[in-house]
Amino acid sequence: YYLGIDIGTSGTKTLLVRADGAVIAEANAEYPLDQPKPGWTQQDPESWWTATVKTVKAVMRKSKLKPAEVKAIGLSGQMHGSVFLDKKDQVIRPALLWNDQRTAAECDEITSAAGGRKALIKMVANPALTGFQAPKILWLRNNEKRNFDKLAKVLLPKDEIRRRLTGGYVSEVSDASGTLLLDVVKRKWSTKLLSKIGLDADLLPDVVESDEVTGTLTAEAAKKLGLTTDCKVVGGAGDCAAGAVGNGVVKKGVLSTSIGTSGVMFVHSDEPQYDASGRLHTFCHAVNGKWHMMGVNLTSGGSLQWWVDNILQGLAGISDKKRYEAATAEAAKVAAGSDGLLFLPYLNGERTPHADPNARGSFVGMNLTHQRGHMTRSVMEGITFALRDSLAIIESLDVPVKQIRASGGGSKNPLWRQMQADVFGKKITTLKVEQGPAYGVALLAAVGDGAFRSIESACAATIEVADQTPPDRKAVKAYDRLFPVYRNLYSQLKDSMA
Ligand code: XUL
Repeated sequence: YYLGIDIGTSGTKTLLVRADGAVIAEANAEYPLDQPKPGWTQQDPESWWTATVKTVKAVMRKSKLKPAEVKAIGLSGQMHGSVFLDKKDQVIRPALLWNDQRTAAECDEITSAAGGRKALIKMVANPALTGFQAPKILWLRNNEKRNFDKLAKVLLPKDEIRRRLTGGYVSEVSDASGTLLLDVVKRKWSTKLLSKIGLDADLLPDVVESDEVTGTLTAEAAKKLGLTTDCKVVGGAGDCAAGAVGNGVVKKGVLSTSIGTSGVMFVHSDEPQYDASGRLHTFCHAVNGKWHMMGVNLTSGGSLQWWVDNILQGLAGISDKKRYEAATAEAAKVAAGSDGLLFLPYLNGERTPHADPNARGSFVGMNLTHQRGHMTRSVMEGITFALRDSLAIIESLDVPVKQIRASGGGSKNPLWRQMQADVFGKKITTLKVEQGPAYGVALLAAVGDGAFRSIESACAATIEVADQTPPDRKAVKAYDRLFPVYRNLYSQLKDSMA
């Protein structure tokens, strides 16, 4: 048996998976997000550990397994975050998260120290973007000098959990790619960039492939979780690569969309491939020796959550659980295109394709006939158009797209599945059982433990495609007409975004 643990932004999900891929038990635990200023997001790493312990104990309790039956753990998590540790392994300040936007000045600093954007892309395959980890370390150096002086290690969120499980400082290539400090082509830290920006390589953990064993549980962690010290912890993956593995996106031609808090359009690549202007991320895949490209929207499902929780809250008589169903049922009654109402989902800046921390959301084209359902639908359409922006860049690079697999919240809701098929103009496939990143890393744990030869064979043995949603010709036409209008809005409104 294997455990897959995903340290998400809103909570942690733990899955207990049998060696043949069957999910035996699942547990979730939520925690808060601290937003001290607009554009700033941070979290207390202790809350991730508490949730890890709670959910592991819960799946063990539910499954009634003996501790020694769990052979290995795979870790996944929100990418890019910075856990700052002192030399006694104490957390110095709350971790800055992937969607934190406070580091624009540090991105400029890195770009110029590297000798310009082109030179930087050559070193680490990506441009400096506000959410990435390296600018966060420089932000600490520039703004909290006292904290920076105490700094001994910087870890990514899931790697902090690994430290608490095994006592080791280790990352793996997929998540390390999102620090901006990895030579993505060579799959090693870029000593060149580190020296140009004046950071000591000792600040960083070791880096391995995603299916490698990184250690076993310490006696203290084994006791706390109710497992044994023989239990291995494998590299795992950042949540995007982990989710892709969980969806079987481990070979050419298969692309996945994921709508969670963030929106991700992810495509496998046998070689490191680039978008010369750096709009897509080129990262190492969790598949040994392979890469991937992806576009990321910062407030994807997060926009619908904002709309339903902050604005529609008053939907009379609707219980908490049903509020999304109720809101999307209203949206389903509105025609494709929301009768001309458009929504830009840039509520917390945007990464792909604009790389603009100051981008903001807006409704455009409102008229007196528009009702609540139009607004909900246009929020969903805006989120889906933002994914199409990434798809358009991927296709412009001649990357073959033979199949699109939808995952996350956007795949569970039938209206959104259909909307994706119609906005992308392509058939959408979903999986029989979709369990996301936690499932992907449970499979990596199985590979690390020797239950499968490779992650490709693990996926082939366990992942089944279930449902296909073909596009509706009339809706495709409507969206094809609206997409260029949507696309133009950002440049037209950019200067009015305060
Ligand atoms: C990926 C990214 C987000 C987070 C969300 O680059 O920033 O998808 O990983 O958890």
